[in-house]
Amino acid sequence: MANVIVVGAQFGDEGKAKVTDLLAKNADFVVRYQGGANAGHTVVVDGDTYKFHLIPSGILYGGTTCILGPGMVIDPQAFIGELDALLKRGLDDSSLKVSACAHVTMPYHLAIDAAEEESRGAHKIGTTKRGIGPTYADKCARSGIRVEDLLSAEALRQKLDWLVPRKNVILERLYNLPPLDGKEILETYLAYGEKMRKYVCDTSAIIFQAVQQRKNILFEGAQGTLLDLDHGSYPYVTSSSPSAGGACVGAGVGPTIIDRVIGVSKAFMTRVGEGPFPTEQAGAIGEKLRQVGKAWAEVGVTTGRPRRCGWFDCVVGRYSVRINGLDCLAITKLDVLDEFDEIKICVAYRDCATGDVYKDLPSIAGSFGAMEPVFETFPGWQKSTSECRSYNDLPSAAQRYLNFIAEQLDVPVAIVSVGQKRDQTIIIEDPIHGPKRVLSRAAAGL
Ligand code: IMP
Repeated sequence: MANVIVVGAQFGDEGKAKVTDLLAKNADFVVRYQGGANAGHTVVVDGDTYKFHLIPSGILYGGTTCILGPGMVIDPQAFIGELDALLKRGLDDSSLKVSACAHVTMPYHLAIDAAEEESRGAHKIGTTKRGIGPTYADKCARSGIRVEDLLSAEALRQKLDWLVPRKNVILERLYNLPPLDGKEILETYLAYGEKMRKYVCDTSAIIFQAVQQRKNILFEGAQGTLLDLDHGSYPYVTSSSPSAGGACVGAGVGPTIIDRVIGVSKAFMTRVGEGPFPTEQAGAIGEKLRQVGKAWAEVGVTTGRPRRCGWFDCVVGRYSVRINGLDCLAITKLDVLDEFDEIKICVAYRDCATGDVYKDLPSIAGSFGAMEPVFETFPGWQKSTSECRSYNDLPSAAQRYLNFIAEQLDVPVAIVSVGQKRDQTIIIEDPIHGPKRVLSRAAAGL
């Protein structure tokens, strides 16, 4: 294969797990590089549904080494719960590794995330309340607990002795909440550490060795480009870097080892949580997108919140190509559009105040929300695509739709997914070994 990054090219929930699962078949290593239990990945294999929050979905292939990288934030309780559920279903954990440097989501992070959200009132972010922001905030403030700390009673006690009284000041005085018991946290988290010990190691060293042995490594991003802390629709973002650049920092590898970046987009768009979403369809169309294809019910895997739905947005798509240096696209959930008599695609934004039209995302995140979409309308194909297994099987209107997206974003569509099952997948061109799109265009002076 090669060393490949899979990133979400929209607002998260693009169906990355299915694409990762497909590619993981040929991967020796699958590495998750950011985020925590805020992510929710669903994979359906032989009629069985697996839901992942922390553990890479590559675990479904015995023999693939699955790594939770140093850029992640890990809630040990969630990790152990997920692991136990997988072990009960007979999955092999012998190749599961957890970075000693990943940060740990602690009870005060969960409490503060919920309290902060509540206190924001109308300006809430719509977080998953999994403690993600506060865990990363402590990491940046150099007050975080790392996985390695859970393995040492002395290290953990020393950190908690300083941290818990300070967190309790916030909980009690700012949010009028009961204080947390430092001793109880110490005992509980040391017990978690014991359960995690066998998986904990220096994952960057393992990946480096794999690179030198020419192994195939898949870097799996959670969330999506527009939720990236630096490049997303700030402040309505997550607190890590889901974009391709985040893979190097979050996994502990140099950018020179990356061969390929694959962006995953739905054939339409969804968003959970607050924040701008110019192509959102609040009425009947949004409801239809949400409901069509019961198996695909557009509900957040982590929080169960209904997803906001809208038409495909090429402005967001072009931006994702730029931020991630995408080589190709995987388009998921094409089948959800099967029943529509007409389908819209946003090709540009119009500034509601000035009338100016933009083909690129405005650089000031705040102004993103004040844009209205400029749509082109396509006839729907009104035929099921779920049995299609090649590009030529697709109705011509669906082919036109995919070609239009590829032209607008100037990257090839390599993979199309037409259902949840592994075999409901169309490979249009080799997603791994195709031309380096961004580089080849630059070389051609385009
Ligand atoms: P947090 O990551 O829980 O702090 O949430 C910040 C924002 O990212 C909120 O709008 C969430 O709804 C969104 N978010 C976080 N994780 C995911 C995900 O896996 N899919 C989609 N949205 C997410």
